[in-house]
Amino acid sequence: MGSQLWQRKPVEHFELEMKESKLKRVLGKWGLTSLGVGAIIGAGIFVMTGVGAKEYAGPALALSFVVAGIGCTFAALCYAEFASFLPVEGSAYAYSYATVGELFAWIIGWDLILEYGMGASAVAVGWSGYLAKFLHLFNIKFPIWLMNDVFTGKEMIAEATHKGTLVDLSTRFSDVSFPTIFGIDFAVNLPALLIIWLLTSILVRGIKNASNTNNVMVAIKVVVVLFIIILGANYINTANWDPFIPARGFYTDSFGTHGAFGLLGIVSGAAYIFFAYIGFDTVSTHAGEAKNPQKDVPFGIITSLIVCTILYILVALVLTGMVNYKDIDITAPIAAAFGSQGLNYAVFIISIAAIAGLTSVCIVMLLGQSRVFYAISKDGLLPKKTFGEVHPKFRTPWKANILIGLVVSLVSAFTPIEGISKMVNIGTLLAFVLVCLAVWIMRKKEPTRHRPFKAPVIWFVAPMGIIFNLGMMLTLEWQNWVRLAGWLVIGLLIYFLYGKKHSVMAKRLAEENNKH
Ligand code: ALA
Repeated sequence: MGSQLWQRKPVEHFELEMKESKLKRVLGKWGLTSLGVGAIIGAGIFVMTGVGAKEYAGPALALSFVVAGIGCTFAALCYAEFASFLPVEGSAYAYSYATVGELFAWIIGWDLILEYGMGASAVAVGWSGYLAKFLHLFNIKFPIWLMNDVFTGKEMIAEATHKGTLVDLSTRFSDVSFPTIFGIDFAVNLPALLIIWLLTSILVRGIKNASNTNNVMVAIKVVVVLFIIILGANYINTANWDPFIPARGFYTDSFGTHGAFGLLGIVSGAAYIFFAYIGFDTVSTHAGEAKNPQKDVPFGIITSLIVCTILYILVALVLTGMVNYKDIDITAPIAAAFGSQGLNYAVFIISIAAIAGLTSVCIVMLLGQSRVFYAISKDGLLPKKTFGEVHPKFRTPWKANILIGLVVSLVSAFTPIEGISKMVNIGTLLAFVLVCLAVWIMRKKEPTRHRPFKAPVIWFVAPMGIIFNLGMMLTLEWQNWVRLAGWLVIGLLIYFLYGKKHSVMAKRLAEENNKH
């Protein structure tokens, strides 16, 4: 049995699958870069910078972006090496199947659900926050219990009561109380739920010209981020940067008490805003559609990461320069910063860009999730009938899409963004650590294999990737570790109860043994 758990899928097998692939090779290096930027710029920069500055790093949030950016660069080089010699759809899942073996691959695949599926949930919640901000510009209001999960709604009321700003809250919502069901307060983030359903229905029908739509979205996002930086620079009050690294303190919220500020606050801030970087790895999932995957996929991954890192550092400086970190809004921080200067036209522009931009990120994440499920079910580790069946007319994995939409929408409707995003972060950081490890192992196991792109100084890059990303994981509260462990235990149960018995690889092994 041991042999199956560590059985690797031969690279030649992947190469054969690639030849059989029906995907069209249409993407060039800038198309791939654009897909990367499209997947990266989203809720992280538009929403999570708020909590990142207010609760973790203060003005030093810009340094948190540097730390997270460095960790991601190491991981990106490793992803790029893998993507160059295994240009297939399953991303980290496929890479680990080829290098370490079936069990490890399953664990990564299961872990990627946190990145893509839960990631889509977090982005949907951020989307809902910006929608509320946008509607508020036109004085359109809904009850608090229709726009938030119950925890966030109650936290908003508690904070407003504490600060004596309850009146402000009632100008944002038409009602600030909760209905009860069987004596329990009820609230649902309806916009988040509805956007997931809308996107799911689009994905079931299949997206045509996705690449062109993505290019438009990317252009809007990049232009608006530049607008934020250039306009915002005029409103920076350098007094807000003093102290740049506020003294260490402790911050308490409904999730518990955690460390903030000081040098450690910069690292825990990095672990929190790490979400903003997630997405560059999705470029690797498009390897099957790249004209020249060996060269262009590494280019797309690394260029998109560099562009976003520079933009993020500048946005963080502008935001913390415009507003004192203690007063930053946590649901739509960037728009609110411009609102506080009376620049309502900027709030309008930023909200529209955030709504459009977050929509595109959400679609990429949902699509990424269905691709990973598709790759896993092709190997027999998940039921092919559910996760791999392609719709006869739309040619999409429709059952997988609907199942994903159902679960993702429920999570986003009832869970606070902070809780979801930390789960996404810990899961994705683990995937990055494992990818760095797997690239290193592969170099040792198959040193002579042709690698069109080689991560430079691997003996340095791979361990540094592991150290940086593991270091960020370690600053996340223990509750996230418990949740991650619980998630992995469920995954292992599924593998031993289902995957192991249905593995295509195991069948092949058995057939080979019978022949000998
Ligand atoms: N990086 C993506 C975002 O920030 C996931 O929304």
